[in-house]
Amino acid sequence: MIITSLTVDRIPDLEKLLALGEPHIRLRGSSDYWLYATLFANTCPLAIVNGQVVGSVIAFRSQVDPSEIYLQDVMTHPSHRRQGVTRALVKEVQGQGALWGCRRLYLTSEPDNGAAHRAWLALGFTNLPGDAVEQGVSVAHDYKGPGKHRSVYERQLEP
Ligand SMILES: CC(C)(COP(=O)(O)OP(=O)(O)OC[C@H]1O[C@@H](n2cnc3c(N)ncnc32)[C@H](O)[C@@H]1OP(=O)(O)O)[C@@H](O)C(=O)NCCC(=O)NCCS
Repeated sequence: MIITSLTVDRIPDLEKLLALGEPHIRLRGSSDYWLYATLFANTCPLAIVNGQVVGSVIAFRSQVDPSEIYLQDVMTHPSHRRQGVTRALVKEVQGQGALWGCRRLYLTSEPDNGAAHRAWLALGFTNLPGDAVEQGVSVAHDYKGPGKHRSVYERQLEP
């Protein structure tokens, strides 16, 4: 497996991968991916196996609090799951965060996404307390706006 930064020429392959991510991943517009490849490539790694894009993370360093990196979309091709793809991609983002002196990675997921919940805990993230616990998962209601309930996960980065 090769981990490499997102580039504009890989956007069509990335879109094909992310189209498989419903219902938890929603495809964004092509020019959004251009933005990620052009302005945020350092935190947008791809995993390549046999020349195919099999995993991706889209993440951003906050301009409001530059000690934080937010992971927006995380996706592994269904035939490559449980093979350490997300583990490797998160490690890459973590390495970039450490170079920048960032202190925290965080992300949200939909409360019913059991695979994601287990993956984040396995990768050392903490499920932050919300305002309810549903099927063992802490949920923050309306976190992203009315009706947009999310589970929030964070992982501290060593200084
Ligand atoms: C969640 C997701 C990104 C995990 O990706 P992955 O590449 O399969 O994860 P990894 O192989 O790196 O898993 C790391 C560890 O997480 C845990 N884990 C991951 N998926 C799991 C699952 N379905 N059930 C239980 N544990 C799981 C395991 O402990 C795993 O280590 P192990 O396989 O050695 O036991 C993947 O299932 C996916 O793409 N889902 C669809 C899109 C999505 O929901 N994205 C997340 C949005 S927040």
